[in-house]
Amino acid sequence: MSPATAATSSMVLRGGRPLEGSVSLRGAKNSLPKLMVAALLTGERCRLRNVADIVDVAIVSDLIRALGGTVESPEPGVLDICAADLKPMERSVLREFSGRSRIPILTCGPLLARFGQAPVPSLGGCRIGSRPVDFHIRALQDLGATLHEEAGNAHLSATQLTGAKIRLDFPSVGATEQVILGAVCAEGVTELSNAAIEPEIMDLIMVLQKMGAIIAVNVDRAITIHGVPALRGFDHAAIPDRLEAASWACAAAATNGRIFVEGARQVDMMTFLNRFRQTGGDFEVTGQGIAFWRASDGLRSTVIETDVHPGFMTDWQQPFVILLTQAAGVSIVHETVYEQRFGYVEALNRMGAKIQLYRECLGGLKCRFGQRNWLHSAVIAGPTPLTGAEIHIPDLRAGFSYVVAALVAKGVSTLTNTDLIQRGYENLTGKLQSLGADLLST
Ligand code: EPZ
Repeated sequence: MSPATAATSSMVLRGGRPLEGSVSLRGAKNSLPKLMVAALLTGERCRLRNVADIVDVAIVSDLIRALGGTVESPEPGVLDICAADLKPMERSVLREFSGRSRIPILTCGPLLARFGQAPVPSLGGCRIGSRPVDFHIRALQDLGATLHEEAGNAHLSATQLTGAKIRLDFPSVGATEQVILGAVCAEGVTELSNAAIEPEIMDLIMVLQKMGAIIAVNVDRAITIHGVPALRGFDHAAIPDRLEAASWACAAAATNGRIFVEGARQVDMMTFLNRFRQTGGDFEVTGQGIAFWRASDGLRSTVIETDVHPGFMTDWQQPFVILLTQAAGVSIVHETVYEQRFGYVEALNRMGAKIQLYRECLGGLKCRFGQRNWLHSAVIAGPTPLTGAEIHIPDLRAGFSYVVAALVAKGVSTLTNTDLIQRGYENLTGKLQSLGADLLST
């Protein structure tokens, strides 16, 4: 996305209307790109279903094609990927994709397995903290790769990846995926401890198991990967996007409407559903999805601490804070996964919210950011009426939260840089219009 495009992508909407109707989910933004990377581990055709039309999928499709693979769409929502003719990644290809997404770092394992070489990309992704890749590099070195750095460029080499005992300093989603993708064809057994176990990671493990891998998820966050000599293709429908589902839930309760989210799965959202109910939301689970609305006795304040799965997902935090601005009382949110994930609060306060940020850990969870000068705890006083404003969107999840805030606010809001939201939400404008949002221009 060029800066010019970023500046022109905008949405103008008038708030104050309850959102009513239904939306349908497609595959999870934080699962689909990883499942596409798994296809690089085989020369056989891989069919991926329930594919959302989002930017991150397009970026990885372009990357696979740039590496000599093929990505075709025989019908909407389906991708056929074949990496039979894959070739090593040139620095020029890496440069083209660095900075646009965090996914390229996950190609290191498969490229090392196939070619013994992998350049290390500088990454993009949402600006919500430093987001280093040290866990990724260290894990690949544990698996036998060697890191080379010259003239600011880094690359990894390995004649053969070998199984190892690896412990992550933090249950990082990306680093867990990196280990799994690197170990699945390594020689011997890899024991990963302190791993992330999000549903999106289980989705990746299920795809690899279909491909012939032997991966066990054990007690206390330990994952064992038995290396196998080769993998075959897969046919898999990605899990639905539980993060988008939560965003619509918050929009329904915040605007005092009712939204049925087709495809939402209770099993992926149990922690969110508990907190949603405790905050005065209500929901009904059916075989086709989940309906969300605000309970009759109104919204009430609560205390949230984000955590790794099965805790309250950090990506649920932003839309939930909008809900809390409309809840009676004082709420607290302690963000323990990212050090800088409250940047969006300033614009909400301009709209009339009363949110104060603190450096202290306002919660009982062990946190890496306490006393290190990060504003990672928020206190929200509500309910506060919001008024429309001009808002520049900083990142994906905050972007959707601003849309929810604008839908709640009285008056007109202008949101710019809305392309960022397209990274993770398919057809956002169409969904908002179908729910009765008063869109003045998009
Ligand atoms: C994934 O990011 C998701 N992105 C994020 O969603 C999500 O918030 C995050 O996991 C946590 O659930 C995708 O899957 C594409 P991490 P990831 O590695 O893998 C630190 C969204 O809006 N860390 O679990 O990059 C890191 O700084 C996005 O959809 C290191 O220190 O997250 C952070 O504090 C936002 N060194 C913590 O771990 C490393 O090498 C968790 O990061 C890697 C991570």
